[in-house]
Amino acid sequence: MNFIVALTGASGQLYALRLLRKLAEADAQVSVVLSEPACVSLAAETGIKLNAHAPDTSKLCGGNVALAARLRAWKPRDIGAPIASGSNAHDGMVIVPCSMGTLGRIAHGVSDDLIARAADVALKERRKLLLVTREMPLSLVHLRNMQLVTEAGALVMHACPHFYHRPQTVEEVVDTVVERILDHLGVASDARRWRGDELRAAELRDEA
Ligand SMILES: Cc1cc2nc3c(=O)[nH]c(=O)nc-3n(C[C@H](O)[C@H](O)[C@H](O)COP(=O)(O)O)c2cc1C
Repeated sequence: MNFIVALTGASGQLYALRLLRKLAEADAQVSVVLSEPACVSLAAETGIKLNAHAPDTSKLCGGNVALAARLRAWKPRDIGAPIASGSNAHDGMVIVPCSMGTLGRIAHGVSDDLIARAADVALKERRKLLLVTREMPLSLVHLRNMQLVTEAGALVMHACPHFYHRPQTVEEVVDTVVERILDHLGVASDARRWRGDELRAAELRDEA
């Protein structure tokens, strides 16, 4: 399996860290690109300091060098990277978290950096493109851009965790989103599935 994971400057960098770890653990090869604003959000949210133009991928894997070996980082301005070309097949691209700025550039075909270009390529080659968008509230511009990319073939997976399995930690909340991403990439995970008996256990089903 061969994926592209791009991190942009939205909030929600923990989603990216968990996804990268799980893809590496699943033995996938992952091309990683961070925008400069992604590094700002990453530092603010996790304390991890990275240079977008020379990222130390082991920091994205909690210092685990073996996992980091599955990741290959590309500079956001390296428009000559293999992932900028439609001739390089992959099994899916995820932009997580996806800022409204990057969403807008993709929606309007503005391929001014490697992230937007690789996304543009995924759309034209009809490859899987998952946009894990994050903003609140959403303006009409955001909503229209989401519609545009959806019509072009992307899947907007707005970062909405679920709580019906009563997550106890931030990591468990984050995983409710990451597991849905893995589902769409076709990567097996140990996601807990809704079975319906949760309601029975809470003695709510019979009353409903
Ligand atoms: C701490 C922090 C949190 C941010 N959160 C969001 C967000 O949730 N959604 C968003 O669209 N932009 C957010 N931004 C703004 C983007 O980083 C900014 O628009 C940036 O230019 C996006 O560039 P990029 O898409 O190239 O990464 C945030 C910025 C900072 C510093």
